[in-house]
Amino acid sequence: MAGLYEQLISYTNEDYYPMHMPGHKRNMELMRMGNPIGIDITEIEGFDNLHQPEDILRSLSERLAELYGAKKSYPLVNGSTAGILAGISAATSPGDMVLIARNSHKSVYHGAMVRNLRPVYCYPQKLGQIPVNGGILPENIEGLLIKHPETRLVVITSPTYEGIASDVRAIAEIVHRQNALLLVDEAHGAHFGFHSAFPESAVMQGADIIIQSLHKTLPAMTQSAVLHCNREELNGRLQKYLAVYQSSSPSYVLMAGIDQCIKLLEEQGKELFEKYTVLLQEFYASLQDLRFLKIVDFRMEDQELAGHKIVDYKMEDQELAGHKIINHKPANNIPGEKHGIYDVDRSKITVSVRGTGLTGHELQVLLREKYHIELEMAASEYALAMTSIADTEEGLTRFAKALGSIDRMLGDRGRISSVKERTDCREYGDFPKAGAELILLPGEAMESQSETVKLPESAGRISAAFISQFPPGVPLLVPGERIDAELVRYIEKVKNEGITITGLTGIGMDELEVVIGKGTSFHG
Ligand SMILES: Cc1ncc(COP(=O)(O)O)c(C=O)c1O
Repeated sequence: MAGLYEQLISYTNEDYYPMHMPGHKRNMELMRMGNPIGIDITEIEGFDNLHQPEDILRSLSERLAELYGAKKSYPLVNGSTAGILAGISAATSPGDMVLIARNSHKSVYHGAMVRNLRPVYCYPQKLGQIPVNGGILPENIEGLLIKHPETRLVVITSPTYEGIASDVRAIAEIVHRQNALLLVDEAHGAHFGFHSAFPESAVMQGADIIIQSLHKTLPAMTQSAVLHCNREELNGRLQKYLAVYQSSSPSYVLMAGIDQCIKLLEEQGKELFEKYTVLLQEFYASLQDLRFLKIVDFRMEDQELAGHKIVDYKMEDQELAGHKIINHKPANNIPGEKHGIYDVDRSKITVSVRGTGLTGHELQVLLREKYHIELEMAASEYALAMTSIADTEEGLTRFAKALGSIDRMLGDRGRISSVKERTDCREYGDFPKAGAELILLPGEAMESQSETVKLPESAGRISAAFISQFPPGVPLLVPGERIDAELVRYIEKVKNEGITITGLTGIGMDELEVVIGKGTSFHG
């Protein structure tokens, strides 16, 4: 059997086009990097030390800060994950109260666990078109901070995986008024601020700590990321915690990749983003006539199924940011404030299959098998594609043509009229909004002894697991929360409907890890 290396070589030698991460899209011309083995060194003389940068790596940090307009920036080689863990650790002391957006990435929960923080959750708004999370409303953050004035840190994700950005500026003002700090997980927004067609970065909107995955939306290798800090007083602690969570042998290949990515943006950012936005504009325009598949436009959230046509993708405000971040207000007056949508990242392409008789997964397989196009993600009602400045005109045209052809095929087969809505296309409104009762802190639950029980027997027990429904990816249960009978019934129902529930165990995925008793410490 071919090993991983051979399989990767064989796969990448084929003509699959990546509509997924990493953002370099295997575009070797743009990456300007050759053989990685030849530059894979350790900290030898003349190459500085990531954990105590004084020379070339310090200059890399300074260039990152200049490029993004941050007070200080730290290149990361262990992904945004390490940056989020370090940011949470630097901004809190064990036992502190932290206000967390419930749709946070696992690393945020893990940060709360390892620091034994007391979490309070803010729920994102629900959307109507497809089951994804909307934004976080500033007034909800305000309400919770007034209720919990001892909160030390607020953590939100903006943009979401699908590209919905919250009003970070308003949230930062509220957080600072309450003497707390704001950490924004901007893992999906490393390209923000380079062109007025994309949202403004949280770096420029008053957030204190901002973490971005360079590898997700820019031409950089997997695990390359950056942490920006706008609070001088946090830097000592950040440096310390970055050394805790990052490798003591940081990859020079990854760091060189970050350097090349930054250089590209410094030298050609303006023209690359200009070209990219024109390509995107053409891509969206070419799909205006889709009859069945729908390109979701989150800005139209208030208008029922507005995603059926692409409207108002205006790029007339073409002042190009180049390598300087521009400070702009969203160009469009976005309806749907109650959905917490402040701005939308149109680099993410969300294709709704609602009402077509096709699932997102089936669309994903069709694109892979028939057109050799690989998507980022698929769910029952939609699929997600990611683009970046590394996309080629040929690649995006191929994707647009494939979608057009599948759309025509849907019509030819008459699936729309003959196939009724699938049963797994449930109403998103079913999703329980309020969280479960917190009995143990996530960190305490992590340290407790646990056992595995069948789902129905878990009612009344304390969860030792993360249980999430996907989409929208808000955990139904976090370790330490009481499992109530209604929630068990809900989990069984959506599981039977074919919706992905992560965190369950057992051969039939019908078991759940629970804390023994009231939380017997693992250490006795
Ligand atoms: C919202 C969000 N935050 C953080 C991360 C972690 O990023 P990384 O893969 O760079 O560690 C992810 C990864 O998917 C993410 O989607």
